[in-house]
This record gives sequence, C-alpha cells and structure tokens, in this order.
Amino acid sequence: MKYLILLLVLVSVACKSDKQSKPDYKILNSESKIAENQDSKSYEIMKTQCYTCHNPETEHDNRIAPPMVAVKMHYMRGNPTEEEFTQSILNFVNQPTKEKSKMKGAVSRFGVMPYQKFNESNIKSIASYMYNYKLDKPEWFDEHIKGEGMKPYQQRGNQRQKQKRKGPKQKGMDIAMATKKELGKKLMNTIAEKGTAEAVEFCNLKAIPITSEKEKQFNAKIKRASDKPRNPDNLATAQEEVHINTFKEMIANSESPEPIVEKNNGKFDFYYPIVTNSMCLKCHGEVGETIKTETYKTIKLKYPEDKAIDYDANQVRGIWHIEFQKDKS
Ligand code: HEC
Ligand code: HEC
Repeated sequence: MKYLILLLVLVSVACKSDKQSKPDYKILNSESKIAENQDSKSYEIMKTQCYTCHNPETEHDNRIAPPMVAVKMHYMRGNPTEEEFTQSILNFVNQPTKEKSKMKGAVSRFGVMPYQKFNESNIKSIASYMYNYKLDKPEWFDEHIKGEGMKPYQQRGNQRQKQKRKGPKQKGMDIAMATKKELGKKLMNTIAEKGTAEAVEFCNLKAIPITSEKEKQFNAKIKRASDKPRNPDNLATAQEEVHINTFKEMIANSESPEPIVEKNNGKFDFYYPIVTNSMCLKCHGEVGETIKTETYKTIKLKYPEDKAIDYDANQVRGIWHIEFQKDKS
C-alpha cells in the first residue's frame, strides 16, 4: 500500500516537474527583504520538491516518508559543518541507495527514496536551508522520538521569518472552520452511534465546551448567533442581525458569501454565515417531517423557547461572530 502511494505521488510529481523546476517567486519578491529572499526561495523549493513526501503536516499513520526534521536529525549526527551536511544530503539525493542510508528504519518502513532527477543547486540551497533554519516539526514528532527510545531532539537553526501575516479575513475563517469541523465531527459521530435524540443531548452539553476550547486555542471570542435561536443565549444582537440579513440576501441570490470584517479599536469582528444542509434538518427542520416527534420532545424539554425550526437546506441558520485582537508583529 505504502509503495503504491509513493508511486502515485511520484507519478504526479513527475507530471508537473516542468513547472516545479521553476517555482514562482514573484509573490515572495515583492514582500521580503533581499537577505531573507534566498532563504524564502529555498524554503519554497523544499516545499514544492520535497514536501510531497516529507510533509510535516502528514499524520503519523499516513506517512509515506519521514518528515524533513527527522532527516535533519539523522544528518546532523556528529555535528557536521554546513559543507559536510550539504554534501551528505546531496550524495544521497543524487543516487539514493540502501547502503548510503543513514535512516535504516525509514528504509525498511517506506522503502528507499525513489530516485528523481533534481537540480543540484536546488538541493544545495535546500540543504543549506535545513542546516540554518528550524524545520517545522509534526505534532507527533516528540512523542515518536521518545517511543523509539531516542533523546529529545534539540534542533539547531534560526526561526524562519513568517512570510506574510494572515489577514483578519483569513484568520477569522481559520477559526470558524476549525470550530465547525470539531462540532460537526462530534455531532455526526454521536448521531451515527447513538441516534438523533442523544445527539441533542450532545449539542446541549458539548457545543459550549468545544467552542470554549477553540477560544483558548485561538485567543478569540467565538459566538454562534441566530435570529431564531434554539438556545436563547445565542440570540443575535441588532448588529448581528443586520449581517444575518445581508448573508441571507447573498445566499438567496446564490452568491458565495464573503466574510464581513469590522475593525474596532485594534480589535476585529468577523462575521460569516452558518448555512444548513440536509443533515441539520433532523433537528432544525419541520416537526413531524424531518424532525421526528420524539426528537422534538427532547429538544423542547431542554429549550422550551426554541425557535430554531422550519429551516430548509441551504438557508442561513445563523452566523459566526468571532472577535480577536490585531496580530502583533
Ligand atoms: C516521492 C517521495 C519523495 C520525495 C519527493 C522526496 N523524498 Fe526524500 N525520502 C523519501 C523516502 C520514502 C525516504 C525514506 C527512505 C530512505 O531513507 O531512503 C526519504 C529519505 C530521504 C533522506 C534520508 C535518506 C537516508 O536514509 O539517509 C534524505 C536526505 C532525503 N529523503 C532528501 C530529500 C530531499 C532533499 C527531497 C526534495 C528535493 C526529497 N527527499 C524528496 C521519499 C521522497
Ligand atoms: C442532533 C440535533 C442537531 C443537529 C443535527 C443540528 N443541531 Fe444545531 N443545535 C442543536 C441544539 C440542541 C442546539 C443548542 C445548542 C446550545 O445549547 O448551545 C443547536 C444550536 C445551533 C446553533 C446556535 C444558535 C442556536 O440556535 O442556539 C446553530 C447556528 C446551529 N445549531 C446550526 C446547525 C447546523 C448548521 C446544523 C447542520 C450542520 C445543525 N445545527 C445540526 C441541535 C442540532
């Protein structure tokens, strides 16, 4: 299976190799200073040419190659100079063989790195970048090292200058989507495992804690506001209702909604619609139709003032209202 994936990746890499040998630096050039420029380029080259397999964001069980930081760890053994480090990376990449490998465990797990023709000066810049900068570490990395009986890895190098700060729109979207994903995943699981009525219990008890966890993670205030709330605490303010109506219009006209961002004294207020799909109708649709009468009894018991019914799919159920501070640079 792993080989198959590797092969597929390789084929897809091969197909776009023309483009990859000339990554597009225009975006970077306009923003970064000259000194940092070469390093940003090297980082971009590494991302396009190596991260297809050596990606630090791949989950532990889906890996098809070790993350780059693991490669660095093994190649930094014995404290090489930058020249020596670069040479040994180059030596392997130019002609990967089992004999040359410094990562026997990886070879037996993933097979030897498939040979690919890379531009030699690109490999040198990647190696130099690896030597001089801290590489992104997967979340599972430290635990994994410990499991293999190795000492924690103190990585040498500078912190990479972040390319571009995320704009408030992007940041708001990240927070909204992360929260949505977490709520949605747990809700689906609960419905699948225990049925809709139990899932009402879940929303009742867990919607708030999951949201607060995300608030801590992102250092933001997260609210789901509705003009027809189930939980009266989620009733939209006058300001929120204005935005709900704007989004309703956009959705009704089949426009894809753009987030609304307001700036107030160094703080951002981000708004984005929460739109129904057919799954939501099990609890927000029509009673006796999409909502089972039994389920609605449970809902009414917990939310005697419930207004959140009679929705159809693809309607604005409410909005995300997310507040966060302006990023400090
Ligand atoms: C098609 C997938 C793939 C791509 C793309 C890829 N690698 Fe690898 N690489 C692997 C696999 C799998 C291993 C682990 C097996 C091994 O060590 O040979 C590996 C291991 C390595 C090792 C350690 C070898 C050892 O065992 O000592 C180095 C160094 C390395 N890669 C460098 C690179 C660099 C630099 C790039 C980008 C220019 C790159 N790789 C791109 C799959 C890939
Ligand atoms: C299993 C039943 C159930 C399903 C399915 C469900 N919800 Fe809810 N929903 C609830 C409950 C219960 C609450 C009240 C949560 C609370 O007390 O904070 C709620 C609250 C909300 C709120 C907060 C505003 C309010 O009315 O209090 C929004 C927005 C919302 N749901 C949207 C959705 C969307 C969109 C879907 C589909 C993706 C969905 N819900 C699916 C039961 C459900």
